[in-house]
Amino acid sequence: MRTEAKNSWITRQLSNDDKIPYDLLLLGDETIEAINQYIFDSDIYIVEQKDKVIAIYALYSLNQDEIEIKNIAVDKAFQGQGIGRFLLQDATIKAKEKKYKTILIGTADTATKQLHLYRTAGFVVYEIKKGFFTDNYPATIMEDGIQLKDMVMLRKTIK
Ligand code: ACO
Repeated sequence: MRTEAKNSWITRQLSNDDKIPYDLLLLGDETIEAINQYIFDSDIYIVEQKDKVIAIYALYSLNQDEIEIKNIAVDKAFQGQGIGRFLLQDATIKAKEKKYKTILIGTADTATKQLHLYRTAGFVVYEIKKGFFTDNYPATIMEDGIQLKDMVMLRKTIK
């Protein structure tokens, strides 16, 4: 099913014939190896503009009740226009259609802007995964001069 917003962004589920847009997914995660741990078992939704994929999210089922947004990304040229917020709404609608009760998302504890977005979209912090980025990735990950260590997990009840 397609979801259309006021601003006319539309998501479409990536089909098996489509190439996986790793360039975009690599904005939301650090390595292709990490992405490949979940992407083949995820439902992937994209926003296109003139046949170019400009935004993406991947929904991964954890169990009957919980689904996680494992990756969300907007092409740099299109960031800051509300597409990320639209994707979170769209993901929640998709999760509701699939009868999930809770939608989850995780990000680095240093990701201030992302945390602001998720919190204002109704997600609430419930866990800190200590050492997630040091234990699960082979190389040190630096962002804005800070080493990524802990992952903040947030969740939202789907009404
Ligand atoms: N740059 C600017 N503002 C941001 C950013 C960012 N990187 N991230 C979040 N925000 C804030 C804005 O200030 C805005 O707040 P406001 O509405 O109160 O003013 C809010 O988030 C929503 O902004 P949008 O325009 O809807 O966000 P955008 O379309 O830029 O998408 C996203 C947000 C997906 C985080 C995007 O910036 C991006 O792709 N960043 C790089 C990849 C990334 O960090 N992905 C998330 C990793 S965690 C995970 O994938 C599970």
